[in-house]
Parts: sequence; C-alpha cells; structure tokens
Amino acid sequence: MSEAEAAARAAGLRETINRHAHLYYVLDRPEIDDAVYDALYRELQTLEQEYPELRTPDSPTQRVGAAPLEGFTQVRHLEPMLSLANARGEDELLAWDQRNRRLLEARELDDVPLRYVVEPKIDGLAISLTYRDGVFSVGATRGDGEVGEEVTANLRTIGSVPLRLLTSDPPPVVEVRGEVYLPLAAFARLNEQRVADGLPAFVNPRNSAAGSIRQLDPRLAAARPLDVWCYAVGYSEGLDLPDHHSALEWLRAAGFRVNPQIVTVDGIEQAAAACRAWEERRGDLDYDIDGAVVKVDSFVLQRALGSVAHDPRWAIAFKFAPTTVTTRLHSIEVNVGRTGVLTPFAVLEPAFVGGVTVERATLHNEDDIRRKDIRPGDDVILQRAGDVIPQVVGPVTTGETNDADGQLVGREERHVALPEWTMPRVCPACGSETVRETGEVAVRCPNRSCPAQLVESIKHFVSKGAMDIEGIGEETVVLLHEQGLIGNVADLYGLEREHFVRLEAGKVVALPGFGGKMRKGEDGALELVEAKRADKVLAAIEASRERPFANVLFALGVRHVGSVTAQALVEQYPSMDLLLAAGAADLAEVPGVGPVVAEAVEQFLGDEHNRETIEKLRAAGVRLVEETPARREGSLTGSTLVLTGKLPTLTRGQAQVLIEAAGGKVTSSVSRATDYVVAGEDAGSKLDKANALGVTVIDEAGLRSLVAGPEGQEGQLRLT
Ligand code: IVH
Repeated sequence: MSEAEAAARAAGLRETINRHAHLYYVLDRPEIDDAVYDALYRELQTLEQEYPELRTPDSPTQRVGAAPLEGFTQVRHLEPMLSLANARGEDELLAWDQRNRRLLEARELDDVPLRYVVEPKIDGLAISLTYRDGVFSVGATRGDGEVGEEVTANLRTIGSVPLRLLTSDPPPVVEVRGEVYLPLAAFARLNEQRVADGLPAFVNPRNSAAGSIRQLDPRLAAARPLDVWCYAVGYSEGLDLPDHHSALEWLRAAGFRVNPQIVTVDGIEQAAAACRAWEERRGDLDYDIDGAVVKVDSFVLQRALGSVAHDPRWAIAFKFAPTTVTTRLHSIEVNVGRTGVLTPFAVLEPAFVGGVTVERATLHNEDDIRRKDIRPGDDVILQRAGDVIPQVVGPVTTGETNDADGQLVGREERHVALPEWTMPRVCPACGSETVRETGEVAVRCPNRSCPAQLVESIKHFVSKGAMDIEGIGEETVVLLHEQGLIGNVADLYGLEREHFVRLEAGKVVALPGFGGKMRKGEDGALELVEAKRADKVLAAIEASRERPFANVLFALGVRHVGSVTAQALVEQYPSMDLLLAAGAADLAEVPGVGPVVAEAVEQFLGDEHNRETIEKLRAAGVRLVEETPARREGSLTGSTLVLTGKLPTLTRGQAQVLIEAAGGKVTSSVSRATDYVVAGEDAGSKLDKANALGVTVIDEAGLRSLVAGPEGQEGQLRLT
C-alpha cells in the first residue's frame, strides 16, 4: 500500500468508525456487530502504527490512552457559560412568564409568538466542547463561567462526544454546551466495585462524574462510563439559527446526543405541564435530574430579554422537590432494640427532602458510620427518594459552611476538626457494659432486664403478625412498664381492669390516657360503669390467647427468627414441648433454618428467664401447640406433598391452596412419608432427595390432575 493509499484508507476508516460510534453511543441503534467494529478499529490502529502521521485528532483511536497531565490548563470560553435562576413551584414559573411578557411588550416585541422549550435539568457537570472546522479541539469545564479547565482528553473518552461533526459544511467555530453525567446503573456498579476494592464509595452520581472529568490521567476517566446530554450552542461563527429548538435540531444532525424528550410548547401553561411530566418520569430515568429548564425559544426574544448578572432572563430552572439535601448532623444517638442491639441514629437539623421533613435517620451500625466517615457536627447529604427510609449518604467536605461560632470555614477543615464518633461503651438505657462479638457488626447490651430491651420486646410481642394485640402501642407499653405492671411479655396476661382504672376513696383513678365513669348503685355504693379503653385493651389481650403457635413463637422475639422461620419451625416441631426437646443439630435440619438460627433458638429456649416466661404463657392459656386445621375431604385426603422449584403458572401459595382444598397436606421437607414431590423449574435438593427415596415426582399438570381427582372436577376453586 502506498502512503497515499494508506492515508485514504485511514480517512475512510475514521469516517466509518465515527459513524458507527454515533449509531451506537448517540442513537443507541448499532448497525454492525461489536466484532466487526473491533476489526475496523484494529485495522486503523495498525495503519496508524505504520504511518504515525495519520494519527489525526478526530481518529477514534485517540479517544483513549493519552498520557497523564501534570495539571489542568485554563481556557477562556468564547462566550460565557451562564447559570440559571430558579423557580420554586408553579407560581414562580407563572410570574417569570408575566415578567417576560411585560419586558417584551415594553420592547414592542409582543407580536412575536412566545414559545418555550422544556428540557430536563441534568444533575451533572456543565461542559463546553469547541469544534474548529468540524473537529473537536477543546473541551472544558464551566469553571467560573468565564474561564474553565481544559479537559479535552477526558471528554474524548466519552463515546457519544463526536470527534468530528457529522455535517458536510461544518461552521469554522462552534461551542457546544452540555452536561456530563454518570448513568445511575453505571454509578451503582462503580460503587460496588470501589467498595469491593476497599475504596470509599462515591456520595452521588454527580460527584463521581465531576471527579472523573477532573482526573489528570485520561485512562482513569476512560474507565468511568460517563455520558453527555447536549443542550445548547454557545459561541459560533457561520451558523445562522433562528431559535433554540432549531439549535437542538442542528446539534442532533451534527452527531450530538440531545435528549429526545425535550418539547417545544406554546405558552406557560403547557410549559408548566411539561415540567410536571418531567417530575413524574424522574424516577424512571437512568440519570439524575433536579428540575426542568424552561427556555424562550426565539433567539430574537432571548436577545431582547438579555441577562442579569450571570442569569439569562430568558431561561429558568423549575426545581423539583429535592430527594437529597444538605443538612447539619447535630448528634448521633443510640437506640436499644429488643435483642439488645445498639443502633445508632442521626439527629439532624430538620430538612425537607422527598416531600417530608426529616429530623432522624438510622445510621445502621458503627462500621457503616466509620466507612462513610460521618462525624457529629458535619454537614451531611440526606437522601430520601420515593418511600424509601431516609439515608445519611455521607459528609459534605467541599464548599463553605458556618462553624459553631457562625464563622465561614471550609467544610473539609470543619470535618477534620470534628472528633470521630464511637459507639458508647455502656448501654444508654441501663448502663451495662456493651459487648461486640467477634465477627459481628452489632454491639449489644448483655443485660436481659435492660428496660429498653423489655419495652422493645413487649412492643414486638403485641405487634401485627405477632400476637396482634390492638390498642397497645409504644406509649402504653412504656407506661405499663414504668408503673411496674409488666416486666415481661407474660405479665400482659395478668393485667386486670383495676390496673388501668379503679375507684379509690370515691374517685376514679386511672392511668394517663385511660378513664372511666362511676355511678351510685342501687345499694348506694359507687361502682365503675364504663372503662372503654381499658376494656378494649383487655379484650384484645384475651383474644390473643387464640393466636396460632407460629405467631407465639415469632412474638417471643428469638434472634433471627422472623415469621417465616417461625412457621418453618412449627411445621416440623408443632409444639413448644417438641421444640424444647430438640437440640440445635435437629433444628438445623429444618428447611430454611441454618445452624445460626438453630443455635439462636437453642440458646433462647435454654435460658432460664425465657423458660419462666414460656411457662407463664402456658399457664395463661396462650397456645403452645399447633392446632391442626380440620382437613377437608378430597382427592388428596391423607396425602403429604412437598413443593419445590418454580411452577409454570401457580405460585407456591396458590399450589398450597389447591392441595389443601383437596384435603392434602403440604410440608417443607422430603421424607419417606412424602407421597408426592411437585417439582418446577430450578428444583434443587428436594428433587434429588425425592429421587433418592423413590418418592413420586410430578409437575404442575400432574398436580392439577391429582387435585381434579378421578371425576375430573376442580370443584369451586378457580385460581386464574
Ligand atoms: S442551560 C442559559 N440547560 O444547570 C443557561 N443548563 O444552573 C445555561 N444544566 O450550569 C444553562 N441541564 O450545568 C441548561 N438543559 C439544561 C441543563 C442545564 C443542566 C445545568 C448546567 C448549568 C446549570 C445552571
């Protein structure tokens, strides 16, 4: 190949590869396989190795691998990069439109239609891309709006940044403005990797995008899957565009990534509706947005409206309710849970986030606080998205803040001057020395009579899904405990009306929140006739004696035993006496119960205090035996079935209903006593065991015909 031929081939390859990069990165519509793309790319690489002078700045091989910089160079933007004034809510948006109209009227421009373009306000990092004669020449951060930092090599690594404009007659100069961001999925993956590598996680996608663009080593920037949305043309020569939406069209045609959901609308009402639409789809997007931007479309009108300071009058940011805010962490306090675990939580300067005011947020555990390096007194990022519980993401260490004396200081300075937080050595509720077992993150209070633990365990006992005792909330539990009326869960069953309300020296005496009415009886003696709330509570306690044994077991609050595990245990050990007789080794055999849970159960049941409580519950008539439900007669009467794997149409619950309706019984483990194993997709060890024991294995269709019985009747039961 002659040199001229090589040059022609390289130019052809550059164009082809850049066109396919555009299809892939910008339009998300690749036309060739990755392998074909790679082959073209390698061919160009080889040519450039042989003829280094063919290595042009718009060559796709130049996207990666540039050498690290010593520092960033400053670049002056050809046209300043402006910022945006905010509209907080629709009223301010309408007021902005009113002002636009007034100003335009004064300039006798009220006959030009006032149209608006509504765009997402991307929560990333503003950048400017300068193209000279169609070739990407300089990329810069916003900086102070006049002068930014040159980050060309890093921006080149972003696949959707065109290295050469896709137009046949490029303008001599054009500045393109946009926002670099890290897609949320990429952010999650990046953080997972960082944590796995023992590096601190990034606080949010914005910070990590900013950090990536300001990397001195472009190879590191290349490893971060950044992307860009372009939203404006800055300075240009040789471009004659009438309005903003034409500018966006031009950007699209030139190969830039422009958001496809940007709309041009006819007045402020429609603009407001478009802003609301952006707010609604916010949670579905693969990038963070913190508002919508409304821009006057016509450039004539934009020029007429002009700017105040750094904010153009012709554009405004419609801010959404924030899902993250910065607020002050006043202190870290500790809660003691029912199993004695100390859980730290943040006491915050109340902050409005995600639609609610938050002043407390859990901090999980000591290690989490240390990993995030959160210190009392820090300014922290608080996050609350959707219905998720509020999270303290981490401290803010850049920018300025006020210290305790109201002086402005750097946030980093302030942060490092604050003492690190440590878990209290003693329980805040009872003063016992706390313990942290090796290999565990949890720190606990070992004192079983710790008042905080008692209150929490009683709250758990009465809660829904456990004993479900209505009318006893946290306040009542605390009250009864303070009055010395309950020291453990069994004491609930010893409560009587007099404990809440009674007559004393001719007066009604009641616990706070409880009351009653008295009257004179026929014999002239006073009697209590009404004590509504107390009676309701007592009736609820009475009714709880009927709860199934699995609920009782869950209500006892054994560590690691949730309602599902309790159910699994009860299936194999249908009474307290059977459970008490079982050892950890037996319990660990129960499906869904591993050695850790088994150990916890054995320990709990082996404890003298717990035994006492259990005996008191037994004496109070609480159910410690599983009630075998009256079995229906049907085609499966007397048969025991085990479900395993995923059935094609039935959920596990539906299958169980079908079986039980036909008189059959569902158990969780396979033994010789099992009649059938119903196996679906991904059936595991139960299927193996069934085969080993020679138990009949059927599929969903088999189950359906068994249930239908010889008469082929499915009865009244319909599941679809
Ligand atoms: S236009 C004319 N459009 O918001 C004003 N900015 O607060 C120039 N931003 O620095 C900006 N999405 O980083 C514009 N669709 C969008 C935007 C957007 C995000 C950022 C940009 C700018 C900041 C202004």
